[in-house]
Amino acid sequence: MFARIRPFLPHEGDDNVPFVHPSGETTLQIVRGKQESKFQFDRVFAPSAGQDAVFDEVSEFVQSALDGYSVCLFSYGQTGSGKTHTMTGTGSGAMRGLIPRSIEQIGLHKKKLDQEGWEYTMECSFLEIYNEAIRDLLRDSKSSECKHEIKVGADGRRTVTNLTVKRIDPNDTDSIDSVLSRAAKRRSTASTDMNSVSSRSHSVFTLTITAKHEEMNKMISGTLNLVDLAGSERLDRSNATGQTAKEAVAINKSLSSLTDVFAAIGEHSKHVPFRNSKLTYLLQPCFSGDGKTLMVVNISPTEESVQESMCSLRFASSVNKCELGKAKRTFTKVR
Ligand SMILES: Nc1ncnc2c1ncn2[C@@H]1O[C@H](COP(=O)(O)OP(=O)(O)O)[C@@H](O)[C@H]1O
Ligand SMILES: [Mg+2]
Repeated sequence: MFARIRPFLPHEGDDNVPFVHPSGETTLQIVRGKQESKFQFDRVFAPSAGQDAVFDEVSEFVQSALDGYSVCLFSYGQTGSGKTHTMTGTGSGAMRGLIPRSIEQIGLHKKKLDQEGWEYTMECSFLEIYNEAIRDLLRDSKSSECKHEIKVGADGRRTVTNLTVKRIDPNDTDSIDSVLSRAAKRRSTASTDMNSVSSRSHSVFTLTITAKHEEMNKMISGTLNLVDLAGSERLDRSNATGQTAKEAVAINKSLSSLTDVFAAIGEHSKHVPFRNSKLTYLLQPCFSGDGKTLMVVNISPTEESVQESMCSLRFASSVNKCELGKAKRTFTKVR
């Protein structure tokens, strides 16, 4: 579990005192009046930490998808705390987030492994879960949205029906940019239509990696999921009716299902409630067997966010205590 504090934004003023600050590399402090609370994480990123510093810390984790693990990285936090900035970022320079950086790094590593006789193919998909329904973020603008279901293969891996899957060359930055901008467009179009869907939905970018080594008669398959979660703020349900009430219930349900899954795993419970939400059902392989998960909790430094920041940090600390067990790699025979 990592924590990242975002800097103040220009409109928030520049002589502000942050209410959350790092103390050392693994401790974060939050100040509320005279009260001070401390939280421990594997790594705490100060507001000054750039996208490259965050990526440096997760790159090894991301790369393990190439070795055949099911890997998932979550970006958690209230709306406006920097989840999308961390995950996707902006542009093609220093502000690029974890998704484009991960693809790029996998591309570099793939080149090395290709020389050792491995033949890699990579495919990506990008979906959104909104009100417990899956939407395809890479769909053609002309084709209308179809229904999607999660199917489970014999090996436990998930596939989603009717989902656009694009073969990508991780060394072709232009095609990656076009995939990401298409997804961003789908997400933002929806947000003007529907009361900021993007802060009410989870987005899941999935890179599926398959490698074959003919000579060694081995095949590896790994997946990398990069998840931008819905805003964690508790929605006011008191006056909400219709669509808003439905949204509130759906978000609360899927985020609490995620918490329940972490809690059940942490307690080594026999029953882990993966089926309680689409998100946890889709990502189940990342929590078991050959799975690895990592979460970045994003925190806003402002005073008005203190209450929500405390909630995010409490949630993150409870998740931080879960041991997922040691992951195994999956190897299968080519023939
Ligand atoms: N570490 C950061 N450095 C600079 N700007 C940031 C940082 N984190 C977030 N921002 C900016 O803050 C705003 C809100 O961030 P965003 O990622 O959209 O939040 P969220 O996805 O959690 O709602 C955006 O304008 C974003 O560019
Ligand atoms: Mg966002």
